[in-house]
Amino acid sequence: MNYRHAFHAGNFADVFKHAILLALLDALTGKDKPLCYFDTHAGRGAYRLDEAEALKTGEWRKGIGRLFDAAQTPEPLQRYVAAIRACNPDGELRVYPGSPLLAAQALRAGDRLVLCEMQPDEAAALRGQFRGDRRVHVHHRDGYAALNALLPPAEKRGLVLIDPPFEAQEAEFATIEAALAKAQARWPNGVYAVWYPIKSHRTVAPFHRRMANGPFEEVLVAELLVHPDDSPLRLNGCGLLIANPPWKLDATLARLLPALRDALAQSADASVNLRWLRDK
Ligand SMILES: C[S@@+](CC[C@H](N)C(=O)[O-])C[C@H]1O[C@@H](n2cnc3c(N)ncnc32)[C@H](O)[C@@H]1O
Repeated sequence: MNYRHAFHAGNFADVFKHAILLALLDALTGKDKPLCYFDTHAGRGAYRLDEAEALKTGEWRKGIGRLFDAAQTPEPLQRYVAAIRACNPDGELRVYPGSPLLAAQALRAGDRLVLCEMQPDEAAALRGQFRGDRRVHVHHRDGYAALNALLPPAEKRGLVLIDPPFEAQEAEFATIEAALAKAQARWPNGVYAVWYPIKSHRTVAPFHRRMANGPFEEVLVAELLVHPDDSPLRLNGCGLLIANPPWKLDATLARLLPALRDALAQSADASVNLRWLRDK
């Protein structure tokens, strides 16, 4: 496990993932009942953009950097940018929140967060980040195994975010599919969001085909390409596959995605795509 998210925090893929994560959580917290947020690959919870890792790649400059200081924020992105500003109260962009911190901010007193992280230093930092927050349970363990052990949650409603580093490249899809099949059997009503990288569409199409014929009756896919997907050597874009999406999430994403494309494009051929792989 060599991956460290600190090199990539706040890049275009994080902006895409986290803007949609907030849309998902806002939709779910529209109902009064408590929910459980499950993050299988949580990371350390928050990242310094003024420290060595982030400075080395500078990836955040083509991500949150484009939005944080903009004179005007497009309406669909205002919720997300406000959440990042809340982590930088003096107005200087120094901290980029990870999915656990964004979720903790979006969730309510009666909700619960289950955060899994396998890398020891990252897990320790994550624990430190949430010390004193009784809603948060940090597990230093494999997130896929934890899903199998801990689902369904007592709350019976909520969201699972699966955001692996894809060090196994395309083989990661098979691991995800196996984990989703078991999770669906234990908790059919959970909402599941899976982040994946796009280098070339050819590598993603088999995953989509299998999920279109998999255990979930409703599967929505949102994708962003900052470059055309014609080079297998670079990260051209990314996607989020959402099984059992909340009601009307598709309409929210239809407004959000073009704003993300306009903000994050790295070439004239940048594009977004929203489609049902399967719909009841
Ligand atoms: C892409 S990062 C997560 C970023 C985070 N979800 C966010 O949005 O801020 C992936 C994380 O998964 C961790 N990891 C890798 N394999 C894991 C596994 N099998 N179970 C749990 N965590 C794992 C890595 O150490 C890394 O911190």
